[in-house]
Amino acid sequence: MAAKSNGTIGILTGGGDCPGLNAVIRAVVRRAEMLSYKVFGIQRGWLGLVTGMGEPLTVASTSGILPRGGTILGTSRTNPLKSPADKEKVLENLKKFAIDYLIAVGGEDTLGVAQALAAEGLKVVGVPKTIDNDIEGTDQTFGFDTAVSIVTEAIDRLHTTAESHQRVMVVEIMGRHTGWITMIGGLAGGADCILIPEQPVAIEKICEIIERRRARGKMFSIVAVSEGFKLAGYEETVTRDKKLDAFGHERLGGIGELLAVEIEKHTGYETRATMLGHVQRGGSPTAFDRVLGTRYGARAVDLIHEGKLGMMVRLSGNRITEIPLANAMTKLKYVDAEWMKLAEIFYS
Ligand code: F6P
Repeated sequence: MAAKSNGTIGILTGGGDCPGLNAVIRAVVRRAEMLSYKVFGIQRGWLGLVTGMGEPLTVASTSGILPRGGTILGTSRTNPLKSPADKEKVLENLKKFAIDYLIAVGGEDTLGVAQALAAEGLKVVGVPKTIDNDIEGTDQTFGFDTAVSIVTEAIDRLHTTAESHQRVMVVEIMGRHTGWITMIGGLAGGADCILIPEQPVAIEKICEIIERRRARGKMFSIVAVSEGFKLAGYEETVTRDKKLDAFGHERLGGIGELLAVEIEKHTGYETRATMLGHVQRGGSPTAFDRVLGTRYGARAVDLIHEGKLGMMVRLSGNRITEIPLANAMTKLKYVDAEWMKLAEIFYS
């Protein structure tokens, strides 16, 4: 006789995709089966709950997805709290799909919605995801490690062409509000100058660093810059598009090109810009992200089973624990001065 079901867990992945999402989905399904829950996969994040898109997930249907990038559920940047009618539809569809509990996998926007719904009594658990690694409540989000390894490889490759031409290479890296990928990828790749949103720097200072390195015999330069970096004296970040998404974000991009023009103008060195863009979010997750996603997914189901609702799973040191969603995102996690001090050792 089949074991009695403990209920149905819905799962959605929202916001920008990132490597490791499928590891979370797979672990949720496997752990849920062990604890006698059914799992319902909601398609395209909150949009799937607004429009009623989804299907049951099973061990068989999620087999083989561990090394796959992206998310088998699809994603969107839908904010269902922008309109009372959409929020109503979310509640109706949860009922229609007989979802008792919800696992929301996402960054600050997706989890912000989860937290608001949890405050109104929805039985929800959050899993932190973003390549940006800027969620305060956890030591690390999955997807970040993969993005850093892609950036490191790109900087390694830029080295050889930069050296051959004695050029300055500016590499633009993702990171809207925080510079974690740029800082860690830049350190790992041995960038000569690391520029992050947390710290505006004047063009004169950047050129001074480049000149200093040349005076010491290094005839090429790698400048790693976050898309959200602001040159000191400029008020705004460089955007591709002033149109805002559902959570009020502009589409960033272009600071690398702007810097390249300015550096060449100030120093006379031939300069090129490379924008890594969505390559940083694509492809197979690293072993670290597969395992972190797996640990998060399994623990999210355990939290439901233990009745610990309104929580977010998190990495604390090397342990997976949990934190109330309400405390997990009071502010973003910024790169602190300690990291800048380390990077500056290599500017001399
Ligand atoms: O939030 C993750 C992220 O990759 C940011 O680093 C970047 O600014 C943004 O998403 C890009 O969003 P989209 O894929 O919607 O262009």
